[in-house]
Amino acid sequence: MTATAPLRVLVVDDEVKNAELTAADLADAGFETRWVSGGAEALRELERARFDAVVTDLRMAPPDGLALLAEVRKRWPDTVVVLMTAYAALETARKALKQGAYDYVEKEGDFTDVLVRSLREAAERRALERENTRLAHTVESMREKALPIVGQAPATQRALELARKVAVTDSLVLLRGESGTGKDLFARSVHLLSRRSDGPWVKVNCGALPEALLESELFGHEKGAFTGAVRQKPGRFEDAAGGTLFLDEVGELPLALQVKLLQVLEERTFTRVGGNAAITVDVRIVAATNRPLEDMVRERTFREDLFFRLNVFPITLPPLRERPGDVPRLVEHVLRRHGSSLEQVSPEAMRALAGYPFPGNVRELEHTLERALILAGEDPVGLEHLAFAQPDRTLEASWVPTIPAEGLSLEALEKALIVQALERAAGNKSLAARLLGLTRRTLYSRMEKHALRRPGEGGEDEAAEDGEPA
Ligand SMILES: Nc1ncnc2c1ncn2[C@@H]1O[C@H](COP(=O)(O)OP(=O)(O)OP(=O)(O)O)[C@@H](O)[C@H]1O
Ligand SMILES: [Mg+2]
Repeated sequence: MTATAPLRVLVVDDEVKNAELTAADLADAGFETRWVSGGAEALRELERARFDAVVTDLRMAPPDGLALLAEVRKRWPDTVVVLMTAYAALETARKALKQGAYDYVEKEGDFTDVLVRSLREAAERRALERENTRLAHTVESMREKALPIVGQAPATQRALELARKVAVTDSLVLLRGESGTGKDLFARSVHLLSRRSDGPWVKVNCGALPEALLESELFGHEKGAFTGAVRQKPGRFEDAAGGTLFLDEVGELPLALQVKLLQVLEERTFTRVGGNAAITVDVRIVAATNRPLEDMVRERTFREDLFFRLNVFPITLPPLRERPGDVPRLVEHVLRRHGSSLEQVSPEAMRALAGYPFPGNVRELEHTLERALILAGEDPVGLEHLAFAQPDRTLEASWVPTIPAEGLSLEALEKALIVQALERAAGNKSLAARLLGLTRRTLYSRMEKHALRRPGEGGEDEAAEDGEPA
């Protein structure tokens, strides 16, 4: 874990002879060196170029070794300081260690060997520290930005593990799973955990555009390629250079574009629409789909060769109903994001959440909870706030006609609805009454009101009807 480039060392000593000799010895030992004859000069040199280490005499005209040490610690904390000192100044040297010097060596005889050892050790220690910081950053980013991914269920853990492993490679990744299972989230995480995380993240929804537009969106076009192509435009592939291109809903890709995509995947080159120059891009592809690609291959709506190419590293995100163990954690996650906590959900509501199959998966869970939090206000979320736990009123709600500007006649509307119900029920008044949420008796009286029936008139279907309590 030693640094690959030679370590750059600045030697500082007002005894010019010593500065020169030490620098020469260190150069022989493989370091890249410069020497100066005083503290002020050293600071100027440090401002000019980056050094891995400063080797300085202790006693010099101000700024002396200690002052230089203090300055370096403050302004170039990554630069190691090693002091050279005469025996007489050992006390000061020890003090310097406390102030952040890496080491000190006694200027005695041929002390360069000791110095070389000390500097090499410093280099190794530094490399190690850097590696640790890098790892800490990675872990941090996995937790904080890259993977705000929640889930304890073995299936989720497996998917996470796969994502982590493949992220650091440049391999194509295919995310599979029902709508709302987290494909987008995982795709972004793969990007953020990769060495491309500082590069662009470009997402294209392959199902959102008609074929011609999609082609130009992906691959760009030359000026005049088609009506309206007034200037040349690079496509999303080019936008993503050095980064990751996320092809969402890749199963929706029209066949012609499947061919073109396959070509990019195999040859890394493509041409813009209306152009013939081959463009090469350095792009990592992550694709996602909720479609059964295997079936599509069988039905010949998806090219088999492209399927095999995409499916090298599939990560399947299981539907939420197959990992009910994740629900409480996801609930907690959503609550926390809304500045709330688990106490905000009543035990009954939690039980209901854990038992509900969530056909819309995590997205539905999020929406359900967000809505419930709004409805509950300051109170804990209860069953009455969970949409799926309510009797279905959606029909009723969608049924309410908008009152036109000129107003309407409620009487006429009621009559029209009754007529419609009778028609739909083919004259069966029990059924018509049920369609309207009325008892048969009430329906009769309303029919009389609207002159749809004479008072006391029985229906020919009367006998077939079950008697309903009024
Ligand atoms: N394991 C998880 N932890 C935390 N949040 C999650 C998890 N899985 C999904 N989500 C959240 O659920 C929502 C839906 O996820 P996402 O958009 O990634 O689903 P998708 O599979 O891409 O859906 P679609 O197929 O409809 O595009 C997002 O808000 C996402 O952050
Ligand atoms: Mg998505």
